[in-house]
Amino acid sequence: MRVAFLNPQGNFDSRNSYWGLHPDFGGQLVYVKEISTALSSWGIDIDIITRRIIDPEWPEFSEPIDYYEGVGKLRIVRIEFGGRRFLRKERLWPHLKDYALGIMDFYKKENRFPDFITTHYGDGGIAGAMINLWTKIPYTFTAHSLGAPKMERLLAGEKKDFEKIDRKYNFTVRINAERIAMKYSVRNIVNSNIERYEQYGHRLYKKWIDINDDSRFETVYPGANTKIFNPLPKDIDTEIERKILEKYPKNHLPWVILSSRIDAKKNHISVIKAYAENKRLQDLVNIFIVTRGIDDVFKDTLSKSDEGILSDIISVIRENHIENKVLFFNIEGQQELAALYRIGFKRGSIFALPTIHEPFGLAIIEAMACGLPVIATKYGGPVEILREDKEEYGLLIDPLDAKDIGEGILKLVTSSELYEEFSKKGTRRVREKFTWDNAAKKYLDIIEGNLSKTLVRPEIPSYFLNGKGVLFL
Ligand code: F6P
Repeated sequence: MRVAFLNPQGNFDSRNSYWGLHPDFGGQLVYVKEISTALSSWGIDIDIITRRIIDPEWPEFSEPIDYYEGVGKLRIVRIEFGGRRFLRKERLWPHLKDYALGIMDFYKKENRFPDFITTHYGDGGIAGAMINLWTKIPYTFTAHSLGAPKMERLLAGEKKDFEKIDRKYNFTVRINAERIAMKYSVRNIVNSNIERYEQYGHRLYKKWIDINDDSRFETVYPGANTKIFNPLPKDIDTEIERKILEKYPKNHLPWVILSSRIDAKKNHISVIKAYAENKRLQDLVNIFIVTRGIDDVFKDTLSKSDEGILSDIISVIRENHIENKVLFFNIEGQQELAALYRIGFKRGSIFALPTIHEPFGLAIIEAMACGLPVIATKYGGPVEILREDKEEYGLLIDPLDAKDIGEGILKLVTSSELYEEFSKKGTRRVREKFTWDNAAKKYLDIIEGNLSKTLVRPEIPSYFLNGKGVLFL
């Protein structure tokens, strides 16, 4: 059997380049890589189909076919579309028909089409619907994050100007692509029930999907790579610990670890503000911010995608004279991150994810897998990770309420019983519920159960098929 994973945005390579460094290289890529490599290890031929980029600033993605070392039956297929330069995901929308046509050409030349297609994000989804129209190959749609709730959040915030945000984010096109993708998929794969009822339940999708129809949805919980993220000490831990102590020799307090991409919506600043206004907290813990690719935040040029977020964080730190209490450390790759979590655990640290709205919260389960108790946003997927049948696996906080955040942190670091309870329960929960093997098995069931499914022929707006016509919300 051959299965194609359609993921036009970001990119894939053996070195996991740009992971966590750029908004298009986040959890979605980890998800696609982990599920597809698990499936390939069970003997299925896999193609991850992404974009060919011939751009000196992004040299990793110029080969048309690529592989992951040691993963035999998996190809990374890069299709040329939308020119040669790197384009952020919001700018791919006008080019998706060329992506879909490129995929058709690729398989025509091979004389063998995939038996099944999984699509990722609205851009992959609309391409899957087009290929389904031309070939009848069934596809699943995994949205990862839907446009309508994001648009609503932006409209409710400071950026109230619809025209302006639509120009930047292309919401009209994105939401229409998602509507088609979810309507004609054999199944919509969601990462939590919260995603199904909150995101798909948005009024802008109402005519396209019935969220109460169980036959349209499958919940597949993402996982942590427990070969990397686990509590067992490794050699790399000693090396990372030595480097941290070299940079911060006097630091012995526990940390509040923030390791998400430095991006406005990840909302690091709320934890810094909570910390700045809580003297007790300052005596008990330090804040530990993971930077990727930046050694000295006070000196080095900030990354292109940071958009001034680090400067805002630094201003709050300076205004409150807590320069010696907030640590910044450059961590590269998952092995180093797991080492940091284990080192943190030894000194009673916790992990914080204060995102304004988190579609799922992959980072939480990675930290939990290493034994760290977690404090996370109460908006989005973390609720389902940290709560089940009245059982609590970590603390939920309001990411916009500094007092709530401060009190949550205090609660975790002042009660060794609670700390130990969350730590133990957390690692067990990840092992039992959030593994990539479980997620891939579920994908396989869905694929096998829908291989020969014929659905209605998709009706796709001409905007996507020939660039003509206007789309409405
Ligand atoms: O991988 C990054 C990610 O988590 C993806 O799921 C998705 O590409 C993106 O962030 C969120 O998308 P958006 O902010 O466009 O809704």
